[in-house]
Amino acid sequence: MKKLCFIISILLLLLTGCADTSAQPYNIHLNCTADMSHSISIVWQADAAAKQSILVSPSDNNSEERIITAEKKTEDETSVFCASITGLDADTEYVYRIGNYEGSFRTAAEEGGFSFLFLGDPQPDTSLEASVEEQYRAWGQALEQSVGDTDFVLLSGDLVNDAYEMNEWNLFFDAGKNVFNHKPFASAMGNHDKSSYYKLLMTYPSFPNAPKNMEDEYYSFDYQNVHFAVVNSNNIIDDEAYAWLEDDLSASAADFTIVMMHHSPYSATSFLRDESRAVKLRERFETVFLENSVDIVLVGHEHRYMRTKPLANEKIDENGIVYLMGVSGAKSYDGGANEYSDCFIINEQVYTVFNINSKELSMKTYTNAGEEMDSFTLFAD
Ligand SMILES: [Fe+2]
Repeated sequence: MKKLCFIISILLLLLTGCADTSAQPYNIHLNCTADMSHSISIVWQADAAAKQSILVSPSDNNSEERIITAEKKTEDETSVFCASITGLDADTEYVYRIGNYEGSFRTAAEEGGFSFLFLGDPQPDTSLEASVEEQYRAWGQALEQSVGDTDFVLLSGDLVNDAYEMNEWNLFFDAGKNVFNHKPFASAMGNHDKSSYYKLLMTYPSFPNAPKNMEDEYYSFDYQNVHFAVVNSNNIIDDEAYAWLEDDLSASAADFTIVMMHHSPYSATSFLRDESRAVKLRERFETVFLENSVDIVLVGHEHRYMRTKPLANEKIDENGIVYLMGVSGAKSYDGGANEYSDCFIINEQVYTVFNINSKELSMKTYTNAGEEMDSFTLFAD
C-alpha cells in the first residue's frame, strides 16, 4: 500500500510539475489611454520571469500580428507588465495573446456617439456578514450585467478597502476580469487606494499630458466630443498639478467636459467631516471648473448616491455643474439629502450609464436589480 501511495505521489508531482502555471498571466485589464481610437494599454501580472511580450492583430487579419514588449515593474514579488499598444485603426476589433491567454478589444470609433459605465466605490465592508470575497464576487456579477454595450468604465476610487493587502487587489481584478479583459477602465485615486500597490497596478502610461511623476493621479483624455479630466482629491492639489489642470481644461474645445475625482466638492449630507472637506475642495476647484465650463463632476467616497442640481458658488444655477456621486460596493451610509440634491439614494448599490452624441449627453442610474432610479440630460451648446 505504501509503495502504491509513493508511486501516485510521484505521478502527481510529475503532472503538476510539468504544468508551469507561474508564468500564466492574471489580473489582465485594459486601461484607458489618451487616444482610445488608436491606442490601448494592456496590463497583467505574472511571475517575474514570465515573457514580457504580447501579440496583437486585427481579429480578421492575423497576418498583421505584431509583437509588443511590455514594460515590467516588480515590487514585493508582484510583477506587473504593461503594454502600450499604439498605431491601431479606429473602430476595429483586435485580438491579443499573452502566453496561452487570448483576449480581444475594440478601439473607439472617432464619431457617431458612445457610452460609458460609471461606478462609485466598489469598496467592500468588512463589518458585513458576507465575506470580502463574496462581496467582490457579487460586485463582479453586477459589473458584468450592467456593462452592456458601453465602451469603457470609469470608477471614482476606493477599489479596495485595504490597499496594502495584495489579496484585495487580486479579488477586485478577479471580480472584474470578464469585463476588464476587453473594455478599458480608468479610475480616480480614493483614500482607501493609497499604497504603492496602486501606483504599481494602476498604470496609465499613455497620457502624455499628465504631470510628471503623478501620471496615475492626474490625467485627461478626449473621447469623441467629450473631454475627461481625472484628479486626485486626497490632498488639496499642489500648485504644479493645479497649473496642469488649469491648462488642460482651458485647452479643451470639446462639447462636454467631465471631471472625475474621489471626494465631492458638494457633500451628499451635511455630515461634518464630509462637509469640511467639501468646503476646501470648493475653494480650490470650483472656480477653475466653472471658468472652463465643466459640465459634470463624477465623485464617490460617501457611499450614497447623489445627483445635484446644477450648482455654482453654492447656489442652484442653470449654468452650473452637476455633481454625480456613485456607490457600487456593499458599504453604505445613511443620512438625509441636502437641498441641492435632485436625486438622493441610500442603502442601494447603483450603476450609471452615460450615452453621448453630438447633440446631447444623457445618463440613467439603475439599481443592480435593473430598476431605473434617476435620469438626466444635458444639451450641447
Ligand atoms: Fe470609500
